[in-house]
Amino acid sequence: PETVVVRLTVNGRPVERTVEPRLLLAHFLRDELGLTGTHVGCDTSQCGVCTVLMDGMPVKSCTVLAVQADQSAVVTVEGLGEPGALHPVQKAFWEKHGLQCGFCTPGALMLSAGLLQEKRDWQASEVREALDGLICRCTGYENIVRAVLEAQAWLTAEMPSVAET
Ligand code: FES
Ligand code: FES
Repeated sequence: PETVVVRLTVNGRPVERTVEPRLLLAHFLRDELGLTGTHVGCDTSQCGVCTVLMDGMPVKSCTVLAVQADQSAVVTVEGLGEPGALHPVQKAFWEKHGLQCGFCTPGALMLSAGLLQEKRDWQASEVREALDGLICRCTGYENIVRAVLEAQAWLTAEMPSVAET
């Protein structure tokens, strides 16, 4: 089959692979790079659990071809924080119980991180609306909203530059 070379950075690391043009970014991350933190929960672009940041914007990685991510900077949940140095949204999800089974959590975290890069004056109602693209069967969303607002409060009060890293 026809193949194409894609070059991008993933979690700050340069990556080059030869792929079929039809390969989705979600499968590229999981199967080519072994970054299985990005989940795939549907084949209808609805669930949002595959969300990653592409050039700082949250995108559903099952709706993007790997070739479309050529020359971009992708961040997955594996690149968000690490043990002992959690990203504020990870810490807030933990403290506010923004997860139960955890299946949607990688997408929920990346979406939340993306929202807080966009702006830092989110109201609860706006966060609820922004979570429209994420399906969580467990939490009822309320604790996810609380977690986003908590992370926002930390970011604006104490760590204004963390979300930019
Ligand atoms: Fe469901 Fe991407 S896997 S929206
Ligand atoms: Fe189970 Fe969201 S925590 S689907």
